[in-house]
Amino acid sequence: MDYSNFYAIAVGVGTKNSADAWLEVFYPAPLFKPNAEEAKALAEALGYEGGNVAIDLTDATVASLADVTMDERQLEVLNLLADSKRPRVMTLLASDAPITSTPEAYLKLHLLSLRHVRPNEQNLDNIFAALPNVVWTNRGAIDPSEIVDRQLEARLAGESLEVTGVDKFPHMLNYVVPSGVRVAYSSRVRLGAYLGEGTTVMHEGFINFNAGAIGPNMVEGRISQGVIVDSGSDLGGASSTMGTLSGGGEIVLSVGKDCLIGANAGTGIPLGDRCTIEAGLYITASTRVQVLDENRQLVKTVKARELAGQSDMLFIRNSESGQVECRTNTKAIQLNEKLHAHN
Ligand SMILES: CC(C)(COP(=O)(O)OP(=O)(O)OC[C@H]1O[C@@H](n2cnc3c(N)ncnc32)[C@H](O)[C@@H]1OP(=O)(O)O)[C@@H](O)C(=O)NCCC(=O)NCCS
Repeated sequence: MDYSNFYAIAVGVGTKNSADAWLEVFYPAPLFKPNAEEAKALAEALGYEGGNVAIDLTDATVASLADVTMDERQLEVLNLLADSKRPRVMTLLASDAPITSTPEAYLKLHLLSLRHVRPNEQNLDNIFAALPNVVWTNRGAIDPSEIVDRQLEARLAGESLEVTGVDKFPHMLNYVVPSGVRVAYSSRVRLGAYLGEGTTVMHEGFINFNAGAIGPNMVEGRISQGVIVDSGSDLGGASSTMGTLSGGGEIVLSVGKDCLIGANAGTGIPLGDRCTIEAGLYITASTRVQVLDENRQLVKTVKARELAGQSDMLFIRNSESGQVECRTNTKAIQLNEKLHAHN
């Protein structure tokens, strides 16, 4: 078998429900595009026969992996897992194909949050089917059909079971804490989000899976699934980048460098570099926009989608006429360096 183009291998520890189905998996040190020799050694130790698979591990198989790994970090992890009573798994992805299991889905989400891949760079087909809905609690992941028994058990023991959400995706920070970021409120960033160095996500900010900020960025608004915000851009309080998962939006957006989407503003079109949208103005793809020249004279009226991806645009709603205008942006923003230093 050819191991030279292997996509990823990772050993993980997770939670299963009482029917032995995976609820979630944590991978402390995934190998992305692993060294062929390492991939071969680990795969052969498990009798791997090809394809994308997740293989449940036993004490004996963990030990046989530890015997063959050449990677120091893998050895450390395997030694720690050797004594665990928790469900353990090795996930082997020969290629970046559609997702077929819960451990595969979690591995691909880790690869994004660990910055091995950027949003839209990997195949996430089938991810919703592969991820079970989970009740997230201070005692870990619980299957929704088992939550009442666990709540009762906790109460009878005089303890509390705190539920923090019911969702297919967990909080990123409970799995990956990227270097050089600030995230004010962990529930606002899902596992699978990509946060580059110098990204700040304030309480109002939200970053979905397969979406992110290249960094440095200030995020006080929503970054929807598939959206990438380039360096130096600022998403003002409660601003929005239009998503494509629900509600009929079709264009996958990106925001270029040094843009400002004002507070309570939003965009339904991709923006190039140095664009500003006035606070409170939501540009949709069909918004009629008057394009003005430097002397604020009308050049043409277009639908906003015709301006998609262009740079140096300032969008305002003229407060006298109500018309949405696009002027040349002469004052692009610069992030406050002190505010964005994360040391
Ligand atoms: C759109 C925006 C960027 C304009 O700010 P600016 O570039 O500093 O522009 P100014 O306020 O100096 O205005 C420049 C000119 O445009 C005019 N103008 C600005 N906004 C206008 C509007 N909505 N309607 C009509 N004219 C407007 C001004 O009157 C001024 O005209 P003048 O040159 O004839 O005097 C600003 O209003 C804005 O919305 N910023 C967003 C801030 C924000 O939300 N940050 C995030 C915080 S969480």
